[in-house]
Amino acid sequence: MDGVTVIDHPLIQHKLTIMRKKDTSTAGFRRLLREISTLLCYEVTRDLEMTHERIETPITEMDAPVLAGKKLVFVSILRAGNGLLEGMLELVPSARVAHIGLYRDHDTLEAIEYYFKAPEDITNRLVIVVDPMLATGNSSIAAIDKLKERGAQNIRFVCLLAAPEGVEAFQTAHPDVPVYTAAIDSHLNELGYIVPGLGDAGDRMYGTK
Ligand code: URA
Repeated sequence: MDGVTVIDHPLIQHKLTIMRKKDTSTAGFRRLLREISTLLCYEVTRDLEMTHERIETPITEMDAPVLAGKKLVFVSILRAGNGLLEGMLELVPSARVAHIGLYRDHDTLEAIEYYFKAPEDITNRLVIVVDPMLATGNSSIAAIDKLKERGAQNIRFVCLLAAPEGVEAFQTAHPDVPVYTAAIDSHLNELGYIVPGLGDAGDRMYGTK
C-alpha cells in the first residue's frame, strides 16, 4: 500500500502477538507497548536530517553527525496514544509533546474533541502523531485536521494496528501523511473494533475493563 509502511521486524511481530492474547496482563501489555513504540520510533525517524558538529574525542578531533533542525513534536491522541508516547520519548527525550483528547461517540463512532494542548510553533517541525489503533480513522483524521489548522505541514502517523477501512479513510483525508504500523488486520467489526485486533487498547493498557 502506497504511503503505508508496515514494520514487520521479528521482535515487533513477536511482542505484538503477546499483546493480542486476551490473557496478557495489564502490566505486560503496557510494557510491551512501550518496548514496541521504541522500535516504531526508530523506523519513523530513520530519515531525519543530519548535520555535523566538530567534537573532540579522547584521541582526536572529528566532524561527528548530529540531528539537524528543530526538535520533533510527538502528538499523543488521548488516552491510548500515551502508551506509544512513553517509549518514543525514551528514544527522543528532547522532543516537544502535544496532547489531543478525542473520544469516540459510541453511536456514530465520530471523534469528539475535549482537549488540545500543543507547542506554539509547530509549523517548521516534524510532527509525529501516535495512536495505537487506526480503526475507523475518525480520531486520527480529526487530530491531523486540527494540527494542520495550527500550521503543521510535515506530519507522520504511527500506530500499532490498522484496519484496511481506517487506512483508506485516513489516506483519503490526508494523502500527504505517511502511516507507519506494525500490522494491517482483516477488517472492522460492527462496533468499530479491529478484527482480529487486540481489543480496546486504552482499557487493556490501564485495566479499565
Ligand atoms: N480502538 C481500540 O482500542 N481498539 C479497536 O479495535 C478499535 C479502536
